Amino acid sequence: MTSRRDFVAQLSAFGLALAGYPRIPVLVRPRFVANPFSLGIASGDPTADGAVLWSRLAPDPLNGGGMGTEAINVRWEVATDEGMKSVVKRGTTIARPDLGHSIHVELDGLRPSAWYWYRFDAGGAESPVARTRTAPPANATPDRFRFAFVSCQHYEAGLYTAYQHLAAEDVELVAHLGDYTYEGATNPDARNMLRRHQAWEPTTLEQYRNRYALYKQDAMLQAAHAAFPWVVTWDDHEVENNYASDSPQDKAEQGSFLVRRAAAYQAYYEHQPLRKASIPRGPDMLLYRTINAGRLARFHVLDTRQYRSDQACGDGIKAPCAEWSDPKRVVLGDTQERWLTRGVEQSQSRWNVLAQQISFSRVPNPTQPTYHAMDPWSGYPAARDRLLAWMAGQQQMNIVVLTGDIHASFVMDVTRDALQPETPTVATEFIGTSISSGGDGFDRWGQLLNYETTVPNMRWHNARRGYVRCELTPDRWTTDYRMVPYVRRPGAPVETAATFVVEHGTPGAQKA
Ligand SMILES: [Fe+2]
Repeated sequence: MTSRRDFVAQLSAFGLALAGYPRIPVLVRPRFVANPFSLGIASGDPTADGAVLWSRLAPDPLNGGGMGTEAINVRWEVATDEGMKSVVKRGTTIARPDLGHSIHVELDGLRPSAWYWYRFDAGGAESPVARTRTAPPANATPDRFRFAFVSCQHYEAGLYTAYQHLAAEDVELVAHLGDYTYEGATNPDARNMLRRHQAWEPTTLEQYRNRYALYKQDAMLQAAHAAFPWVVTWDDHEVENNYASDSPQDKAEQGSFLVRRAAAYQAYYEHQPLRKASIPRGPDMLLYRTINAGRLARFHVLDTRQYRSDQACGDGIKAPCAEWSDPKRVVLGDTQERWLTRGVEQSQSRWNVLAQQISFSRVPNPTQPTYHAMDPWSGYPAARDRLLAWMAGQQQMNIVVLTGDIHASFVMDVTRDALQPETPTVATEFIGTSISSGGDGFDRWGQLLNYETTVPNMRWHNARRGYVRCELTPDRWTTDYRMVPYVRRPGAPVETAATFVVEHGTPGAQKA
C-alpha cells in the first residue's frame, strides 16, 4: 500500500526532523481493523501561543497497538469552536512505529489565554474533538489563573470518578505529579480488586505500552485530558516502585535496570503530550522544565527520580543510619538543582510553583518521632536543607510546593528547619491526595488523629481521594481540596473538604 510518492511527499514537508530516527516509508491511506483513537487524545505544555497535541494510534491497544511496522500520515486541525467550523491551523504529522505510532504536534502562532478545539484524522478515521487552552501572554499578569493538580491513579484500586468531576471544573491547566501508571502484576489473591492489571509486571517496551493502554482506555481519564492541557511529571511507579536513578528496588535487577528504565521512559514519552526535547535517548529523558502562566505563575516542573542518590539505610521508614545525613546525597542532582534555583531567582512571576512528586516537608509520625521516611525529601536531609536555606532568602518569590505520592492530603507550612516546626515559615506546601490509589480512603491517618496539637506546622490533613483546585491572583493563592467519598463503586459526588489561602509575601497557609 505504501507508495514511493507518499514517502517523498512527507520528506519534503517535514524532513522527518527527529534526530537519530531513521527515514522510513509513510502510509498516507492506512486501513484500521478498529478505532485507532482508543487511547483518547490529549494536549499539554501550553505556551502563550501554542500547546502540544497528542494521541497514539492503537486499534488493538492491549496487544502492542496493532499498527504494524509502517509510519502513518496523520492530519490534525485546530479550530476556535467546538464544532470545528472555524479552523485556524491544520497540518500533517507522522506517527512512527519506533515511537509506538504516537503523535506529538507542537503548535505555535495561536492567541494567548484562548480556548481551542482540535482533532486528528488518520486515513479517514477521525478522532473525537478535544479542547485545549493557551497560556496567558508572556509579559502580562492576568487577574487570575486557575489550575488543578492530581497524582496516583492505581487502576486496580478504584474508579477515576475524581476525573469525571475534574473534567467539569473551570480550570485552565491540569498538573499530574506522578504515578500515572503502576507497574505491579495483578494480585491473584486480591479477589476484591475492582478491575485488574495484566498478569505480568512490565519490563519491556511492549509491556509498558500495554500497561499505558489499559489505563488510557478509561473514559473518565480521557475526558479530563480532553477538557484541558496537562503538564505531567513522573514519580517511581511509571518505572518501578522506589527506584532511584540507576538503582532498582530489587537489587538483583541491578545489571539490567537501565534497559528496563529506557523502555519505561520511552513508553512514558509515547503516552504523554510532551515536546521533542523529552524524546528519550537510551535510558535518559529530559523531563524537568518550566511552564509559565504569564507573570502570575511559573511552574518549575521537577524530576525527583532520574538523578537522585539511592535511598539511605536500605529504604523504608526507620531511625536514620550514618548514610542518611551524607552531604553528598542528592534528590534533583546538581544540574537540575542549579536550574531550579536560577529559574526561581530570575523569575518575574508573582508565584513560583515547584510541581514535584515527594513530600518536601517532614510528615511526622508523632508515635515514632525519631523515624524518617527514606524515599521522600526526609531521606535526603542535606539536599533539603540546602534548598530550605536558599528558600529563606527568596521569600518575595512566593514559593509554593505541590506534591503527590503519599495518597493523602496535607497542608504544610514549610519551616526553615524541617525538623523544628517552630522555626520561621519560608514557603507553603500543598500535598494532594490520590485519584484512586489506596481505595476509598478515610478521614485521617491513625497516627495523626491529634495532629492539630502534635504537629504545629501541619494545617490540615485528610486521606480521602480527589484532586486539588487552585486559583491564583496577584495578591492571593486559594487552594480547594476537592474530595470524593468513595472510589470503589461508581457515582461518588465531589465536595470541597477544605480551603486554604496564601497571601502574597507571607509564606504559609491560612484556613479560608
Ligand atoms: Fe502513588
